[in-house]
Amino acid sequence: MPVPVPRKVIALVGFMGCGKTTVGHMLAERLGWRFMDLDTRIVERTGSSIVDIFRRHGEPGFREIEAEVLDRVLGETAERGFSAVFALGGGTLTRPENLGRLRQFGATLVWLDCPIDDLLKRCAGVTDRPLFRDETSFRRLFEERLPLYSQADYRVDATSEPAQVVERILTLARLTAVEA
Ligand code: S3P
Repeated sequence: MPVPVPRKVIALVGFMGCGKTTVGHMLAERLGWRFMDLDTRIVERTGSSIVDIFRRHGEPGFREIEAEVLDRVLGETAERGFSAVFALGGGTLTRPENLGRLRQFGATLVWLDCPIDDLLKRCAGVTDRPLFRDETSFRRLFEERLPLYSQADYRVDATSEPAQVVERILTLARLTAVEA
């Protein structure tokens, strides 16, 4: 009988533009794990874009859907027993129960930390982020979110190229080591 390998989940958190999707994808590839982008799963589940969901249901409606999809994806991951890298949304941790579910599931949270000026540059001109309205509100939201991200188990500097950020995460041995 093959010995079952315990599954692991790394959940990337951080503000819009910090690189969760790009880094998450590359990291999953390096580890040979599954990759799960929460926003993509929300779009698949609802058949609507994130912008449309916000337009039709407002932020509270979006958060409901986000929590439900997160729960579903965590459930699937547990059932199938695979290891995965999750890219959460920038606001997923605004609901404390989402953090509770992630912790209950044994996920390790990694915060991709990036200075606000870099994030502003990266997000300038995007049209698919309903909460990026103008510089002032973007900066304010960033400040409000910092205490949420700081609940992560690790903080990684995400200012540099995604490949370097991946290397930094890989040095956090506890994340990827498989216990006997
Ligand atoms: C949001 C961030 C977005 C997306 C939605 C809300 C937020 O994800 O979930 O627009 O509240 O910060 P990204 O962080 O991947 O842009």
